[in-house]
Amino acid sequence: MKAKAVVLTGQNEYSVREIELDAPKADEVRIRMAATGLCQSDMSVINAKLPMPMPIVLGHEGAGVVEEIGANVKNVKVGDHVITSFIPMCGDCYFCLHQEPWLCTATDIFSGMQPDGTSRVKLDGEYIGAFAALGNMAEQVVCPSMCVVAIDKKYDLKAAALVGCGVMTGAGAALNTAQVQPGSSAAVFGCGGVGLSALQGAKIAGANPLIAVDLNDAKLEAARDFGATHTVNASEDPVAQIMEITGGIGVDYAFEVIGFPAVAAQAYASTRRGGTTCMVGAGSPQDEYKFSALEMPLSSKKVCGCIYGSTNAKVDFAKLLGFYETGQLDLDRMCSRTYTIDEVHQGFDDLVEGRNIRGIIVY
Ligand code: APR
Ligand code: ZN
Ligand code: ZN
Repeated sequence: MKAKAVVLTGQNEYSVREIELDAPKADEVRIRMAATGLCQSDMSVINAKLPMPMPIVLGHEGAGVVEEIGANVKNVKVGDHVITSFIPMCGDCYFCLHQEPWLCTATDIFSGMQPDGTSRVKLDGEYIGAFAALGNMAEQVVCPSMCVVAIDKKYDLKAAALVGCGVMTGAGAALNTAQVQPGSSAAVFGCGGVGLSALQGAKIAGANPLIAVDLNDAKLEAARDFGATHTVNASEDPVAQIMEITGGIGVDYAFEVIGFPAVAAQAYASTRRGGTTCMVGAGSPQDEYKFSALEMPLSSKKVCGCIYGSTNAKVDFAKLLGFYETGQLDLDRMCSRTYTIDEVHQGFDDLVEGRNIRGIIVY
């Protein structure tokens, strides 16, 4: 099966290429993609901040329709609408067995390979990688069935695509990882697609005040629309501004949703004594977060990492789509612009320049 795909061939070198896909093996599915979101993590692979073997098909946030299934596949059938999960859910590893499937180790998402270490994608006759065993910035995808979740067909597949990474990661950070409590205070540093989703998650959880922090005033304006009670431009001492809003106490929950050590330090400093700082942004492997060995125990702040919003995709995708249906989660405004696959460079340029809430490739 031939398909168009966005392939990264070298640092900052990517283009739309024709790939050839093998048929799905026994535990795999083939999906005709409907939509793929342009996520900052794809950009981090492009600029080698997140190093992955190349060539590699980009994309890890998407939704589509199942067209073919392998002999052992039971969780989806042909014709099902699905969201891909960039973390597999094998059901058998230590983490899956302990109800922490977002930590499932069945695939190495940095290897670009399927769980068995091989690939289903060829470029010019040679096997290449696929981001998170998905590589779903493509018209067609062959991936493990444990990386797909069927959803109700009533949902718009563009909106559903965003649930596959950014929205789930952000909303899950607030709802699952930090477990924001009603009436608590929260601040979100970085109001991109993931940060605005964290903001929406904190709003659903009942946070007030709910403070959005960014350098870009357009993002802060969007944050107001998504439920922020206060906005803080990070160019003017955000910690001092948050302290003022919270009467000198700091917030119960601070979310770092960029992946910059300097911002993480601000998020930590804005957290009240005993509060929680949640690190959602993925930085480069060389960057480090630093904490005072005296201040940390004295302040008793909790610092937690967050991958994929501590998501049990089989349950939480439907939960978020339910919030979308009831109007509590605004996904329509999250999809700020669509692109054809051939417009992918424009899409990533717009991401880098901060012109979108979320840009989406629609096939
Ligand atoms: N202070 C505050 N905001 C900042 C700063 C800063 N120093 N630097 C950048 N920002 C803002 C940008 O203006 C932008 O609105 O951070 C936001 C980042 O948003 P996106 O680029 O859209 O990134 P997103 O896709 O939301 O991902 C954010 O989450 O999952 C991770 O890998 C992902 O690390 C990335 C992060
Ligand atoms: Zn992503
Ligand atoms: Zn597992």
